[in-house]
Amino acid sequence: TSNQMWGGRFAAGPDAIMEAINASIGFDKRLAAQDIEGSRAHAAMLASTGILTDKDAEAIREGLLTVLSEIESGDFQFSTALEDIHMNVEARLKEIIGEPAGRLHTGRSRNDQVATDFKLWVRDQFDAFETGLITLIEAFLEQAEAGADWVMPGFTHLQTAQPVTWGHHMMAYVEMFGRDLSRVRDARARMNESPLGAAALAGTSFPIDRNMTAKDLGFDRPSANSLDAVSDRDFALEFLGAASICAMHLSRMAEELVIWSSAQFRFVALSDRFSTGSSIMPQKKNPDAAELIRAKIGRIFGANVALMTVMKGLPLTYSKDMQEDKEQVFDAADNLMLALAAMNGMVRDMTANRESLEAAAGSGFSTATDLADWLVRVLGLPFREAHHITGTLVAMAEGNGCDLPELSLADMQSVHGEINETVYDVLGVHNSVASRMSYGGTAPVRVREQIASWKEALK
Ligand code: ARG
Repeated sequence: TSNQMWGGRFAAGPDAIMEAINASIGFDKRLAAQDIEGSRAHAAMLASTGILTDKDAEAIREGLLTVLSEIESGDFQFSTALEDIHMNVEARLKEIIGEPAGRLHTGRSRNDQVATDFKLWVRDQFDAFETGLITLIEAFLEQAEAGADWVMPGFTHLQTAQPVTWGHHMMAYVEMFGRDLSRVRDARARMNESPLGAAALAGTSFPIDRNMTAKDLGFDRPSANSLDAVSDRDFALEFLGAASICAMHLSRMAEELVIWSSAQFRFVALSDRFSTGSSIMPQKKNPDAAELIRAKIGRIFGANVALMTVMKGLPLTYSKDMQEDKEQVFDAADNLMLALAAMNGMVRDMTANRESLEAAAGSGFSTATDLADWLVRVLGLPFREAHHITGTLVAMAEGNGCDLPELSLADMQSVHGEINETVYDVLGVHNSVASRMSYGGTAPVRVREQIASWKEALK
């Protein structure tokens, strides 16, 4: 039997394989609520412009509510033969209300319909993304505040570089997730134009009111070009782009948690609630949530590349290729929200080990730069010469098996005769971090300013 939507043109129905490759109902049923919401708004507009009678519009509105409740309660029979969510809903509406159901699609196409449904869904995800980021930023702020002046090693190349504060390190992630937040808000504002009423691609000859449906559905305005409206998936790509960058940030933090929670580092203890044990090694407490965050970002990057690839060769306007947009975004959004929530839980629950951090901060000649700076500031040496003298002292300490503050003054003076005991002031890690008061620097006074300004910004 031929199709009930386009059976007029077709003598035969599709091959089973055609149906299998063509149908999207298996996944786009997730757009049911958005589809019904878009249809409700469209029908209301058709009545208000006199294209539909109030009586038909009312029958459609009530019928759609019945369909929605059937779907929500799990009573709805989804049909693969009906291809997608749009035709499943419309076919059921016809069963319930009869003839007026056939008038709903006036001045509309599945092309603007699917773009509208998907935009409504992605818009909700942007909002959830925003909420998740704010919650996570607050978790990092809490950690930063608790340890604004705790010292830890700062690394480059994962080699000890200079002492920094725990608060400063936490605030670095606040900056990263803060940029994600601004990307999300920016993209959310840009995507909020309604495609509904673009119809198949060219607009429609019916006197529809696109401003009315745009407003009804919470869009800022109707999109200005009907060809673009049905062929644009930038909103999904911007979601995946922002998600990818955020996922990369999550993964870097996850990697730090894996390293920091190891017995070799002992920088943090993760809570039992966000760790797992081993079935054979009784001592084990594994940072599985961090590892899974690190791994799951691959799916988000993958979705981004997949959809970019789907879109890149499409002539205007709609092509069926675009049906491949949804699964990628659904999967990426699900995994992003889960990763944000898991990271939030881990960061809130983790306990920084202040003693280990401080011990590590002072090892590895981490204040060598402070020593070189002292030689410049106090003895007036050129920095290059100071660097060389300090390097000689580091080699001496390494030879003696001690750290820089443990070298005697006589040892120091054997390398440069004018060194005096005030040099020891700058070799301590607390003095080191306190001295880095340049804007954006690691000094606790600067860190506390950063915390205060972020708290103000989030109000
Ligand atoms: N299931 C389709 C999709 O997800 C809906 C739009 C179909 N439009 C069309 N002209 N065949 O993209």
